Amino acid sequence: MRRPLIAGNWKMNGTKAEAADLLNGIKAGVAGMQKVDVAVCPPFPYLYIAAELLADTAIGWGSQDVSQEAGGAFTGQVSAAMLKDFGCRYAIIGHSERRQLNGETDALIARKYAQAVRSGIVPILCVGETLEERESGKTEEVVARHIDAVLDAEGVEAYGQGIVAYEPVWAIGTGVTATPEQAQDVHAFLRQRVAAKSKDIADGLRILYGGSMKPGNAAELIAQADIDGGLIGGASLKAADFVAICQAGEDNA
Ligand code: 13P
Repeated sequence: MRRPLIAGNWKMNGTKAEAADLLNGIKAGVAGMQKVDVAVCPPFPYLYIAAELLADTAIGWGSQDVSQEAGGAFTGQVSAAMLKDFGCRYAIIGHSERRQLNGETDALIARKYAQAVRSGIVPILCVGETLEERESGKTEEVVARHIDAVLDAEGVEAYGQGIVAYEPVWAIGTGVTATPEQAQDVHAFLRQRVAAKSKDIADGLRILYGGSMKPGNAAELIAQADIDGGLIGGASLKAADFVAICQAGEDNA
């Protein structure tokens, strides 16, 4: 049985004070939960606040990106080893905003994934199609390409050490959520793609859903057989909403 994970992607939001308030609210709200894993991914400058405030909790924290390089003359980049060094557990890799706005390619994303795994950071690989791709029947082709980038470069074993998040681009920040059936279909397809190389690894792989997940729709999404939690954007910025989604994970575990 896969343990559900609810992870918050704060994106480029908040101040130092807001980060501390949010972390304290989440900490208090999820304190009694036993069956769900909870994580937050604040912006880089606020990671130290998560490290401090969450040190005595089971809540994990992660970055929103990581360098594809191990170290050296790469101005502005942050290595997986540095993140690991101060207690970071996860790194979001290949978010569609980075694919679209920062020109990240599948090849680059596979290198980032590999660096994370090598340093003991758990990568959360984001995959997902645009509205245009969905409407032209290309959803499976696109997510297969995203998932295969890591499979081909690093082998199926890489998925034994990471997490996948299916985030349809048309559902991100739009208020439009994939229906549980739409999401389940893609999650099952992704798991099958990995199972073709290793059933054991596919069975253990957590595949999160992301895209306008909220307290009102989290339970029915997480109840799907192949949906193992959520990667939450907007609703992760309000402690009460994020905690309610974590509770849905706890109740569905
Ligand atoms: P929203 O929950 O705001 O749609 O964002 C989802 C997301 O991009 C998480 O990585």
